[in-house]
Amino acid sequence: MGKIKVAFFDAKEYDRQSFMNSNKDEEFEILYLETRLSEDTCKLADGYDVVCVFVNDDVNSVVIDKLAAMGVKLIALRCAGYNNVDIEYAYGKIHIVRVPAYSPYAVAEHAMALLLTSIRRIHKAYIRTKDFNFSLNGLTGFDLHGKTVGVVGTGKIGRIFIDICRGFGMRVIAYDKFPAKDSGIEYVTLDELWERSDIISFHCPLTDENRHMVNAESIAKMKKGVALINTSRGALIDSEALLEGIKQRQIGAACLDVYEEESNVFFHDYSNHIVNDDVLARLISMPNVIVTSHQAFLTNEALANIADTTLDNVREFFERDTCTNEVCYKCGKLAQCEQKHEKKCF
Ligand code: NAI
Repeated sequence: MGKIKVAFFDAKEYDRQSFMNSNKDEEFEILYLETRLSEDTCKLADGYDVVCVFVNDDVNSVVIDKLAAMGVKLIALRCAGYNNVDIEYAYGKIHIVRVPAYSPYAVAEHAMALLLTSIRRIHKAYIRTKDFNFSLNGLTGFDLHGKTVGVVGTGKIGRIFIDICRGFGMRVIAYDKFPAKDSGIEYVTLDELWERSDIISFHCPLTDENRHMVNAESIAKMKKGVALINTSRGALIDSEALLEGIKQRQIGAACLDVYEEESNVFFHDYSNHIVNDDVLARLISMPNVIVTSHQAFLTNEALANIADTTLDNVREFFERDTCTNEVCYKCGKLAQCEQKHEKKCF
């Protein structure tokens, strides 16, 4: 076979740089497309062997059928989560690979950066001192030392976040659908976590089961003034309920790297536009809300790992009968493939 041809959707400058570094010998022919993958744009992949996508590309059943009909053999996710792919429908039609871990440190450290920024009002102080306003009024924060942090999801990122929190002298409790044995982590029920935590951070995948796990009911169970951190997936939180919780002063701070309607706005410059999403606009207007646009992964180390692993995945798929980072829906858990197959999934 000649060079493997990759249609690379939703390409940003930083993606191009890291993939060009990884592909410096031009082993792969990569077409970088700025547009996202959708039912309308998938025809751009005609004649390509692989489609490479990110978190907001829409890989639904129609897209899968169209790509399969064009002869695309592999969808290479350059991210860990795959809630934007209909993996059940893809089974038997197109193989799916992902990058299970690229830098869990990047995400865990960003979660802590958001928390510190928010509770120590760094975002306010930065703007003030830029304007030579050295007043401290309104900048009072609170110590993290001695506070209880509830961590939802104790996988790679959650565990690193726990270590960071322990370094701050915080007490850690956690909820995981599949608790890690002998980890020394104090697991509690979700209700207990809502009730006891001063800070709650989400590090679990999004599934149909946990969509909107933060809703009016769970918010009512939380401690008054709780700080929420979401670097996982936006739809874990019902944004309207979050906004209401903030207005009621039940939620003291929200640190959001993800947002349930982010695919309409994140990764684009709308500074000269009227943003139509009233909930997002209202959230951003709150002094105790910090939004970053799905930036937690964005470090040099993570980008290099993403590019290397993605191209390794593609190479392995075409050259061997194994497929180390393949995901399919048959391996037990929809949100967290257990990879029971030794070879390709089908
Ligand atoms: P992981 O697979 O190592 O850990 C996920 C953990 O969540 C596992 O321990 C699993 O048992 C647990 N879990 C599964 N379903 C659950 C449920 N319903 N309730 C509670 N826990 C549940 O994943 P990793 O690498 O730690 O990533 C976690 C999440 O972080 C990803 O699913 C992704 O959504 C998000 N992420 C965000 C990034 C960003 O840039 N903001 C970058 C990378 C990942």
